[in-house]
Amino acid sequence: GLYKELYRPQLHFSPKAHWMNDPNGMVYNKGIYHLFFQYYPDGSTWGPMHWGHATSPDMLHWKEQAIALYPDSLGYIFSGSAVVDEKNTSGFGKKGQAPLVAIFTSHDPIGEKARTGKYENQSIAYSLDNGITWTKYAGNPVLKNPGIADFRDPKVMWYEASKKWIMTLATQDRITFYSSPNLKEWTRESEFGAKAGAHGGVWECPDLFPLTHAGKQYWILIVNINPGGPNGGSATQYFTGQFDGHGFTANHTNIKWLDYGPDEYAGITWSNTGKRKIFLGWMSNWAYAGEVPTHPWRSAMTIPRELGLANVNGRLLIKSSPVRELKKQEPPLLTITNNRATTTKGYDTVRNEEPYMLTLTADTIKDCSLVLSNKEGEQVIVGYDASANQYYIDRTRSGKTGFNKGFASRHVAPRFATNHTLRLVLVVDRASVELFADDGLTVMTSIFFSKSWLNPGVIDGPRGGDSKIVVSRLGRVWK
Ligand code: FRU
Repeated sequence: GLYKELYRPQLHFSPKAHWMNDPNGMVYNKGIYHLFFQYYPDGSTWGPMHWGHATSPDMLHWKEQAIALYPDSLGYIFSGSAVVDEKNTSGFGKKGQAPLVAIFTSHDPIGEKARTGKYENQSIAYSLDNGITWTKYAGNPVLKNPGIADFRDPKVMWYEASKKWIMTLATQDRITFYSSPNLKEWTRESEFGAKAGAHGGVWECPDLFPLTHAGKQYWILIVNINPGGPNGGSATQYFTGQFDGHGFTANHTNIKWLDYGPDEYAGITWSNTGKRKIFLGWMSNWAYAGEVPTHPWRSAMTIPRELGLANVNGRLLIKSSPVRELKKQEPPLLTITNNRATTTKGYDTVRNEEPYMLTLTADTIKDCSLVLSNKEGEQVIVGYDASANQYYIDRTRSGKTGFNKGFASRHVAPRFATNHTLRLVLVVDRASVELFADDGLTVMTSIFFSKSWLNPGVIDGPRGGDSKIVVSRLGRVWK
């Protein structure tokens, strides 16, 4: 039945059927969170892109809506963003009603074939019924390609100080900023990044927003990159710095990754959520997204994550945590205090086949490994390796892995925290695990395809101190 198929996520958004990639146009309006997404409704691999659509009151319980944007004479509808045009700067609003405006890339497949180098242009559309139906602007495209083949994924925000819209655009190996008074006419402001950050692949899906830490405002520039991620394939990097309405200046030259796992990509934040910045990514990797063994859909999104900043020995880092809307159900399924056992067996706690959260706290920084496993002997191991000061997720023996030759592997991420408390939070669904270590200073997302649900267990540690492991049900989101 619906949403009951093998490997179907029970906590994460996935489309009923067919291919999905990047989250698009995420905007909060009138009590509704909108999630649009790169969607191909005629197949389960990437194809001519549409914007699919889902709505939710809480970013967890989704209702899939009709397709919002279809390809047109300018091309496929590639990634982009949406804003609430509160002041009706675009003039699309009617009778005092603020329009929703979507800003996206028109990708012309004919121009791509002909190698014109100008086949990606930015277009807009508006909605007057809170995102259900859309009208494309007759003057599209609103931002024409100056001769850069990769010229896409506009993320637009309102910059109050100059009362202008700012577009952050991925332009091959750098970011270009544009400004506009009305979303229709755009002026080039500056560029950033040709010599900063990771450059193992093309820059895609950027985002720019402020976050406050210790009373001071910083600007965060997110830049997704494919390939060239820390564990191979696609991944999300970010810069911390300042933005003055014209340009971005980073306060560091090193590479920072928002998620070190293999399966978070194209992640950006919701528009119009006030001070809260909520991030959501596509839970897959271009290295194998078209080969994963799910049917009749392909791909899910990550859990929505609230972003914050932390200063770790002078380094400003993003920390991510599952949104507070994700509630643990009481009482816990399992509590283990001061574990001393070493076992490879999982505790048979998740008989009801529900997503769960596992929280581990220990007052010692020593090796520890948690095992997610099933009666078929399939397993995913999540742990901390003290000698390397690394977290890891090992899905080598996680079930079906042969669809892609790099899939069965162990992925690692650095520990940044320097305190002496180990704190791991795992969000486990039917086919994914997300690790939030040290209150989200290190994050890893990994998908897997086991024959049945994986139960939580402890292989080793944490030893030598007081520790507590709590497993709680999270409930299913599809009714
Ligand atoms: C990122 C991306 C975007 C593009 C879209 C096409 O995953 O390649 O750059 O707009 O996917 O589907």
